[in-house]
Amino acid sequence: MVKVLFVCLGNICRSPTAEGVFRFHANNAGIKDGFTQNMYIDSAGTAGFHMAAPPDKRAQLTALKFGVDIGELQARKVAPQDYNDFDYILAMDEDNMSKMLQNCPTEHQHKIHLFMTFSETSPGITEVPDPYYGDKEDFDKAYDFIDRAAQGFLKHLQKNHSL
Ligand code: 4NP
Repeated sequence: MVKVLFVCLGNICRSPTAEGVFRFHANNAGIKDGFTQNMYIDSAGTAGFHMAAPPDKRAQLTALKFGVDIGELQARKVAPQDYNDFDYILAMDEDNMSKMLQNCPTEHQHKIHLFMTFSETSPGITEVPDPYYGDKEDFDKAYDFIDRAAQGFLKHLQKNHSL
């Protein structure tokens, strides 16, 4: 079982999109996810501003254009137990990453990565820019970055774990 947690600030724009897009690609590759499967996928925010809220409508509509439905997801905050429970903790930007490194016990810090470093098709891009205060184009751009990193990360898992 490989457990993957996607993390942004509010858990209503980027990380639920990453959760949905990655699940979409993994399921299309024949990898099922859930508590009783080979993979478990979740997302959370470093802040708790929007606890239990569904993803931002703009993120939902952007994902739906690509057949990815994230409407049922609910925001939550990263919990101390997550550092123990998950194998990969993927930060959308440097802020999310450094906040987690401040809270994560040393023995689990190797699990925390910048999500974009898994993309094979966006050289030089290390962060998914926060689209929350932006417009539709910003959501489209964030989706495109997330999709590239999700595909690269899936390849990484297929190569390094028997999935
Ligand atoms: P996210 O975007 O981190 O991609 O979910 C944000 C959502 C909410 C806020 C900031 C960023 N906020 O300030 O409420």
